[in-house]
Amino acid sequence: MSADTRSATWFVTGASRGFGRELTEQLLARGHRVAATLRRPEALDDLAARHQDRLWIRVLDVTDTAQIRSVVAEAFADLGRVDVVVSNAGFGVFGAAEDLTDEQVEAMIATNLTASIQLARAVIPYLRAQGGGRLLQLSSMGGHIGFPAFPCTTRPSGGSRASMSRWPWRWSRSGSAPRWSSRG
Ligand SMILES: NC(=O)c1ccc[n+]([C@@H]2O[C@H](COP(=O)([O-])OP(=O)(O)OC[C@H]3O[C@@H](n4cnc5c(N)ncnc54)[C@H](OP(=O)(O)O)[C@@H]3O)[C@@H](O)[C@H]2O)c1
Repeated sequence: MSADTRSATWFVTGASRGFGRELTEQLLARGHRVAATLRRPEALDDLAARHQDRLWIRVLDVTDTAQIRSVVAEAFADLGRVDVVVSNAGFGVFGAAEDLTDEQVEAMIATNLTASIQLARAVIPYLRAQGGGRLLQLSSMGGHIGFPAFPCTTRPSGGSRASMSRWPWRWSRSGSAPRWSSRG
């Protein structure tokens, strides 16, 4: 089943609010099936009541690599295939670099960079085994342009973009046909 058909299966991280929630709602409204992952599953109670048959929900904190692997394995096992994986979970922090705490900097890198890489590492073997799929990484125009007020948000976002730009080369050697497209 191609991601372009009306009934593709999508896997979304950070589906509780913002882009992740909006994307989940829009996909369900268009007839797709969604594996929505989030830290607070009760945030999707309203959607679950309306789309029980097409909304698969699991708890996932993307900074927990073991949890990423087990939720990804469960999703492919339960749903049969996933056409599009959306690495959306992330956050920004305002502030000069020297004003942020060590914990804020470390959480930012763990969420906006390391988690993206670990999610890609977890899903690519399944996408390859099923013969293809798409991996969408939300990044930031801060990955292209530095903003003084976001020193610790834009660098991990730029890092996730730079990291993802290398994945297609490895993927293509395996016979899949990845596409790389970077939009600010
Ligand atoms: N909005 C923008 O202008 C903008 C600009 C550049 C890049 N982005 C990127 O686009 C993505 C979505 O942004 P947004 O504006 O929709 O953000 P948002 O409204 O703040 O929502 C962030 C989402 O990420 C989730 N999240 C954060 N840390 C997580 C973790 N450790 N594990 C699992 N989920 C986690 C949040 O879950 P909780 O509800 O549990 O906190 C929430 O669902 C992010 O990656 C962000 O960096 C956004």
